[in-house]
Amino acid sequence: MRFTRVLVTGGQGYLGSVVVDLLSRSGFEVVSLDSGYVTDTRAALPHVTYVQGDVLDPASWQTALADVEAVVHLAAIVGDPACGVDEDLAMRTNYLGTIRVVEACRKFGVGRIVFASTCSNYGSTEGEQVDVWSPLNPQSVYAQTKVLAEHYLLSPHGGGPEPCILRFATLHGLSPRMRFDLAVNIMTASALAQGRIVVQGGSQWRPFIHVRDAASAILKCLRRRPGSQAVVYNCGSNEENYLIKDLAELIRHEVPGSVTDILGDVQDLRNYRVDFSLIRQTLSFTNSFRVVDGVREIRDAMMNGAYDDYLSPRYSNHLRALDVSHQGAL
Ligand SMILES: NC(=O)c1ccc[n+]([C@@H]2O[C@H](COP(=O)([O-])OP(=O)(O)OC[C@H]3O[C@@H](n4cnc5c(N)ncnc54)[C@H](O)[C@@H]3O)[C@@H](O)[C@H]2O)c1
Repeated sequence: MRFTRVLVTGGQGYLGSVVVDLLSRSGFEVVSLDSGYVTDTRAALPHVTYVQGDVLDPASWQTALADVEAVVHLAAIVGDPACGVDEDLAMRTNYLGTIRVVEACRKFGVGRIVFASTCSNYGSTEGEQVDVWSPLNPQSVYAQTKVLAEHYLLSPHGGGPEPCILRFATLHGLSPRMRFDLAVNIMTASALAQGRIVVQGGSQWRPFIHVRDAASAILKCLRRRPGSQAVVYNCGSNEENYLIKDLAELIRHEVPGSVTDILGDVQDLRNYRVDFSLIRQTLSFTNSFRVVDGVREIRDAMMNGAYDDYLSPRYSNHLRALDVSHQGAL
């Protein structure tokens, strides 16, 4: 039964392509909106409507919001290195783009917006566990754009969509639009292809979540009762907080013959251990996968010959952003 029409911005991205698939299989009528900023292939799932458009230019796509009941807003320039290539573009896309999407939602009477934020908003917490009420301490332009967008979503602007904000842990695992610029994915790929896992420092904490679990959390947000009290959730699970050196050890164990190379103790500005109790208690969200599952599926896909070119710019938001910026400069 198709009961709700949902628009997913960034629907062709790493997370978006998994979300679009899950929502479509769960009975939603799905519209994907993506500018093609990082994706050059046109995904084509049956039953999904694909619209090419820039979130900054709603006039060109907002009619796609007709009869839409909820928006899942994922479109962004994603990651510290990619945002560093053109900080102004990152700020406009991630912050102003969110404002534009909310304004369009208001115009078309969209009732709900699920927003993809990030646990990197917490910055460096010296290993202290942080929860949704802890102060934010963004250490990069990327995190700053997300903090500002959250702030806007949480400000009252009469008649706008009800926000549900998910501060995701770092994603991992296979997606139709693969990324090899994420810690678990790149460390697994390099263990397999180079026999070596390079770790900078290693004593920093980082939480992880499988991309399919992240998509399931979004589904939970779409299904939660209107007017539910909590609007900001850390999205992940408590047992998936890892020290990076332990993550490397786990991967080394799963890729026989690989070695770990720890390069001194660099100061990583992102060091956070996150409490995910609220999403478990309020939305009954639990993860179905652990980091080891993401490692194994990537390892097996690579052993079957997929991703021989895992260092290609198409798998890296940073290299892709450099390409786009270079083309713009020509
Ligand atoms: N991947 C992670 O570890 C992670 C962690 C926390 C939060 N998030 C958030 O989840 C969301 C999805 O991340 P992802 O990993 O899928 O990244 P991604 O780069 O694969 O996906 C982002 C998508 O947005 C599109 N896009 C960029 N600019 C656009 C614009 N102006 N208009 C329309 N579309 C545009 C891109 O083409 C891409 O398909 C992002 O908002 C990100 O900040 C991701």
